[in-house]
Amino acid sequence: MKIKIKPVKKIVGDITVPGDKSISHRALMIGALALGSTEIKGLCLESDDCNYTAKAFRDMGINIREEGDVTVVDGKGLHGLKKPDNPLYVGNSGTTMRILAGILAGQGFESTLTGDTGISARPMKRVVEPLSMMGVKISAKGGEYPPLTIVGGEVWPIIYKNSIASAQVKSAILFAGLYSKGTTKVVEPVRSRDHTERMLKYFGAEVEIEGKSVSVRGGSELKAKAFEIPGDISSASFFMIAATLLKGSRIKIRNVSINPTRAGILKVLSRMGADIKIVNKKRQAPEPAADIIVKYSKTRGITITKDMVPSIIDELPIIFVLASLSKGVTIIEGAQELRVKETDRITSMQNGLKAMGVDFRVESDRVVIEGAKSLKGASLQSFGDHRTCMALAVAALTAEGDSEIEGAESVSKSFPSFFEMLFKFKLTLV
Ligand code: S3P
Repeated sequence: MKIKIKPVKKIVGDITVPGDKSISHRALMIGALALGSTEIKGLCLESDDCNYTAKAFRDMGINIREEGDVTVVDGKGLHGLKKPDNPLYVGNSGTTMRILAGILAGQGFESTLTGDTGISARPMKRVVEPLSMMGVKISAKGGEYPPLTIVGGEVWPIIYKNSIASAQVKSAILFAGLYSKGTTKVVEPVRSRDHTERMLKYFGAEVEIEGKSVSVRGGSELKAKAFEIPGDISSASFFMIAATLLKGSRIKIRNVSINPTRAGILKVLSRMGADIKIVNKKRQAPEPAADIIVKYSKTRGITITKDMVPSIIDELPIIFVLASLSKGVTIIEGAQELRVKETDRITSMQNGLKAMGVDFRVESDRVVIEGAKSLKGASLQSFGDHRTCMALAVAALTAEGDSEIEGAESVSKSFPSFFEMLFKFKLTLV
C-alpha cells in the first residue's frame, strides 16, 4: 500500500500511544507460565507481533481473554503448556521467535517455530548457540535461519557471555534458565533492555542484577500478579521528533515507558537541544512511566557512542531523521545491529533520506549525517519495515513538497493506528 504525505507546518496535541510492544510480549509469556490469572492493563493489543505471541500461547492451551480494558492470562505454571497441534507461526515477530525458543526448551514436547518470508532471513544462531550449550536439542535451517525445531527437556544452567547486547537473546536464556536446576547467568557488553528481568522479579523469580550481568535461579514457580503496561516509547518517539522539527509544535504524550535501559532517546533529544519535559512520573513496578511534553526547538548534531546504542536501537531510524535537520554533523558509532532488524535499517534509511537530499554516509560501522536546512519531498520505500516507514513519514511531514511511501501497511507490526493518529483524529496538523 502506498501512502501520500503532504508537508505540514506544525503538530499540536495530547495523545496516548499503544502499550509497549516489548513489555507486552513478556507479559503474555510470563502470564502464561505463572500460576494463576494475570491481569494486564495497557497490553499492546493492536500490534501484529503481540497477537502472534498471544496466538502461540493459545495454541499451547493458554486462555487469554479481554475483560473491559484488562487482558487476563490464565497461567498454568512452568510445565502447564500443551504440545501444539501444528508448528507455531510467529509471522514477522523476531521477539516472539527468539524468546519463545527459550521457553520451549524447558517443555516436555517437541515443537517447531516458523514465520513469514521476512523472518526466514533473520539470524537465529544467536539463540541456537546458547540454548545448545544449555543441553537443549535445537536445530535451525543451515544452523542459522528459521524454522527452529526444539526438543524440550532437561536444561542445564550456564554462564553465557554474549558478544552483542540483545534483550531477545538474554530473555531466551533467562527463560530457559527457569527450567534448570541451578543459576543461569547472562553477561552483556552493554546492558540491553531489562523488561524480562524486571517482570520475572515482579512475578517472584530469584533474579540478581550485577553491573552488566543478570542471573536467574531455576526451579520455582512464578506467581500471577496484576500490573499496567505503559505506552511504547518507540512509538512515542516519532511524535516527539515530529514536534521537535516543526516550528510552533507542542505535543504531550501520556503514560509512556521511561525505563532507563530503553529510553535513551530522552537523553539523545536533550543532548541535541530539544525542548523536552518529563512530568507526572509514576515509579510503579514493574515498569516506570511518565508524561512527555515536547515543543519545537532548534537542534544540533552530536556523536552517539556505541555504549548508547542498545538503549536507542529501535529509535535510530527516527534519530537519523532528526540528525538530517539538525545543525552540524551527527555521528552514530557501532550501529551495525541495525543491519539485522526487520530490514537492514542503515540501508533503508540511507536510501530514503538520500532521496530527500540528505548527505548520509556509512563509514564502516559508523553512520555520518550532515544536517541540512530542509528535506525535499520524494518517492520513498519502507522495505516492509514498520520503523523505516514511520521515520520516513515524519521526514515527509517536514519536507518541501509532497512525498509518498511504498509499503505503508508495515506499520501494523507495532502501531497500526499510526497514520490514523497522524492524519485524522488525535493531532491537529496545521
Ligand atoms: C527487543 C529487543 C531488541 C529490539 C526489538 C525488541 C525485545 O532486539 O530491537 O525490537 O523486545 O527484546 P535485539 O534483542 O535483537 O537487540
